[in-house]
Amino acid sequence: MLDALYAHRLVFVTGKGGVGKSTLTAALGMHAARSGRRTLVCETDTFSAMEPLLAVGRPVGHQPVVAAQNLWACNIQSEQSLADLVHRFVPSARLAKAAVSNRLARLFFRTAPSMYELSVLYRIKSLMDERDGDGPRYDTIIIDLPATGHAITFLSVPETANKVLRVGSVAEMSAELAAQLRDPNITDLVIVCIPEEMPVNESIELHKAAHDKLGLLAETIFINMVRPAPVPEDGRAALEFLADKFEDEPGPGGIGVLAEGGELGLDWSRQDREYIGKLHRGIQGANFIEVPYIYRNESDVDLIRRIADHLNAP
Ligand SMILES: Nc1ncnc2c1ncn2[C@@H]1O[C@H](COP(=O)(O)OP(=O)(O)O)[C@@H](O)[C@H]1O
Ligand SMILES: [Mg+2]
Repeated sequence: MLDALYAHRLVFVTGKGGVGKSTLTAALGMHAARSGRRTLVCETDTFSAMEPLLAVGRPVGHQPVVAAQNLWACNIQSEQSLADLVHRFVPSARLAKAAVSNRLARLFFRTAPSMYELSVLYRIKSLMDERDGDGPRYDTIIIDLPATGHAITFLSVPETANKVLRVGSVAEMSAELAAQLRDPNITDLVIVCIPEEMPVNESIELHKAAHDKLGLLAETIFINMVRPAPVPEDGRAALEFLADKFEDEPGPGGIGVLAEGGELGLDWSRQDREYIGKLHRGIQGANFIEVPYIYRNESDVDLIRRIADHLNAP
């Protein structure tokens, strides 16, 4: 089911903050690596989320480190990426680093529109271009996009830069990057959503914007943290009957109380189904994958393993 997704060189994981982007990036990375693809998961945060989620056992920084068989992780540092980018146009690495660490230059890069995005994307591109023997070092790179800012704006930066600059080597590089980000054979977008009003609305908009502004289909949509129903929906009548009949039974463990708890669980699950229905109606032809809310995890990596196992299910 996910083979078509993993066939892309770049997979960007997007969605509203807190919906489980980092969790799914880690689980997808683990799952892709298990399927035999050489997979790199990338993040761009101050603190690495992948380090605990994948139990890497050592710091995850700018340079990729091995996380498991076929799996690498890195946490792209924007300043380092900027130095790499400048180095492309300034012959000496020392000079490039000096240029970036200079206070004025730093201020310029920080305020220059989209320099941050451009340098992070440039870093991702250079990781994509790394070779190991005859082939690419990584088959698939899965990127946990920063929660701040809009994914589409982020991914449109090379195109904008190219239009503004027009000529010169930065323009050339931006043009190549923009073409790769717009090529549906190279780049794919994963949307992570949860069954709630705002995330559902934003996912529908994001899916449309990915198509209209980048020409990408974003066919894989994760609906995360779906609450499993405690009993099948047709058990509702029995629960209502029991809640009524044993309403006056004393004590917290009484049958009436348990039946009410069951009804509450069914209400939660029914509400989830309504939002999931809305998402299906709002996005045509996508591959929807539901991930249950997984309670009682022993550790971060236990949660990731259980989600990765779930991704095997047909
Ligand atoms: N399917 C799930 N079941 C249970 N908890 C989950 C699930 N997915 C994510 N979480 C938890 O939700 C919180 C937010 O997830 P995270 O991946 O950090 O979100 P994001 O990166 O989108 O901000 C974390 O505490 C994570 O452990
Ligand atoms: Mg995150």
